[in-house]
Amino acid sequence: MEVLKSSSFGDHLLTFEELDSTNKTAAELLSLSKADHGTVILANSQRDGRGQRGASWTSSAGQDITLSLILKPKALRADAQFALSKVTALAVSDTVRAYVNEEVRIKWPNDILIDRKKISGILIKNEIVGELVMASIIGVGLNVNNTHLDPDHVATSLALETGKKFDRMEVTRHLLDRFQHWWDKWNGAREEGLVSYSDRLWTRGRWVDMTLDGEPIKARTMDVDEHGKLIMEREDGTVAAYGLDRLRFAKR
Ligand code: BTN
Repeated sequence: MEVLKSSSFGDHLLTFEELDSTNKTAAELLSLSKADHGTVILANSQRDGRGQRGASWTSSAGQDITLSLILKPKALRADAQFALSKVTALAVSDTVRAYVNEEVRIKWPNDILIDRKKISGILIKNEIVGELVMASIIGVGLNVNNTHLDPDHVATSLALETGKKFDRMEVTRHLLDRFQHWWDKWNGAREEGLVSYSDRLWTRGRWVDMTLDGEPIKARTMDVDEHGKLIMEREDGTVAAYGLDRLRFAKR
C-alpha cells in the first residue's frame, strides 16, 4: 500500500494494487474508525466491484478509475442525502467534460453518459444515525483507457471517445478537485449551490419512454427534487415526482 499526498480531498489517498472492492475496503476502514473525512481509496483492480442494485461492476486492471471517497458530513440530514449524488455526478461530469469534446449528461439518479453510452457509474452508501448522515462512502467507476468494453453494455471510455490514452492519476486528481469544488458549494449554499445538476440532466425537456410501476409511459424530465425524486410531466399535463422504486427509464 502506498500513501500519496495531494491537496484537499486527496490528502489521505490510499492506493492498492488489488482489492475486492474499494467500497468494501472503505466500509471496513470506517467500521474500524480508521478513516478520516476525505480519505480516498484507489484500486488498480477490483476482484468484486459492485454496482447499483446488486449488479457487478467490471473494470479493466490498470486501465480505469475505481475509487471510493469517505465523507463525514457535518450536518447532512438523511432526507437531504441526495445532495451527495448531486455533488458526485457534477464532479464526475466536469471531469469527463475536461477531456472529451462531447456533451456529457447525468442520467438520473447517477450515471454519467456521453450520448446514450455510460462512461461512469456511482455507488453511494450512507451510514445514517437518527436523522443525520454520519458517514458516506462514495464509489466511482470511470472508464478511462479501456477500449474493450463489454458489448452487452452501452458503454464508452475516455480513450474510446478521444482515441487517446490518459494518465489515470491526473484524471483522478482532476476528479478530486472537482469534488472539492462541488462539496464546498454545497457546504456554502446547500441545494442552491448545486443547481447545475438539473441543467445537466439527460432527457431534460424531452419526451421519452419510461416505466411507472412497471407500466410504459411517456414522460418529460423536468428536474430532481431535494429528496432525489425525478420530477416529470406526463402527457396529460400532470406533474409528479417519483423515486427509482417506481420510475425507470425504459430499456431500449
Ligand atoms: C453503477 O452500477 O453504475 C455503479 C458502479 C460503481 C462502481 C464503483 S468502482 C469503485 C467502487 N467500488 C465498487 O465496488 N463499486 C464502486
